[in-house]
Amino acid sequence: MKKLSFTNLLSANQISKEDISLIFDLAAKYKKDVQKNKNKKYDLLKGYILGTMFFEPSTRTRFSFESAMLRLGGDVISLEQGMSSAVTKGESLSDMGRVVSNYVNAVVVRHPLNNSSLQFSQNCPIPVINGGDGTNEHPTQSLTDLFTINEEKGKLNNLKIGFVGDLKYGRTIYSLIKLLNLYENNQFTLISHPSSKLNDKKMANLEDLGCNIIETEDLSGNLPDLDVLYVTRVQKERFDDLSEYEMVKNQYHINSKLLQKAKSNIIIMHPLPRIDEISIDVDELSIAKYFTQAQNSLFTRMGLLSLMLG
Ligand code: NCD
Repeated sequence: MKKLSFTNLLSANQISKEDISLIFDLAAKYKKDVQKNKNKKYDLLKGYILGTMFFEPSTRTRFSFESAMLRLGGDVISLEQGMSSAVTKGESLSDMGRVVSNYVNAVVVRHPLNNSSLQFSQNCPIPVINGGDGTNEHPTQSLTDLFTINEEKGKLNNLKIGFVGDLKYGRTIYSLIKLLNLYENNQFTLISHPSSKLNDKKMANLEDLGCNIIETEDLSGNLPDLDVLYVTRVQKERFDDLSEYEMVKNQYHINSKLLQKAKSNIIIMHPLPRIDEISIDVDELSIAKYFTQAQNSLFTRMGLLSLMLG
């Protein structure tokens, strides 16, 4: 099996176009196989154990990683409520990584602190995968998002992608912009309330990578130009001041009436969970792809685990 360019996956910065095509080729094969046979299992990762350590809530990320590992013939052990573990006794993430490497062959970590998976990996000799570190990154969600865009649009270049909602605290968009920027001529329209803008440091990093970005508050005026609209949840749990959350929580609402202004082949994406930023009347439209993203997350994570461990 060909090798990925990384051993730990902590940031989208580490992912190359070659890595993406290796992962996507496998993900597409797994998707085809599993759609043909819902009970399909492989024995590629027989004898391997994946640890999933979640210090923050998760449904899709944890379940899809665990399901991916089980489908590939491996086993899973899981720390469901990380906060009830030794961190509450004061153990450092780096010690925890070192210890856990004795019990599993790879680990997925989700934690509320930025750069937590980096700290976890510091003395950890097994592969560490960032399952979301605070408001920083979520590289495996972005692989799923990119796979879905490729499947639905048939290309990853020459696209106008709008990101709307909580660009300050949402971690999926930062990773996804980095991956999309590997391909030519993509344009990013960041749509948010001024207090939910991408922070200056992230913006400067994306500008250094050469990203073509415009920032605006105006969704309906920009909608007609977009090929992809990526909607995000306002991340209530990350606000220090709840009155600020109240101010921004209802600023954008996507419904089928608004979408009449969009191109007929726009796709609507969301990493989920959705609260009320997309009304359920959008779910029935063929342009709604958020449940497809959730489905694809199984296959992209199967591809990733096969290449990282296989
Ligand atoms: C996202 C996350 O955890 O960052 N969810 C996910 O992994 N699919 C988005 C969110 O929680 O809003």
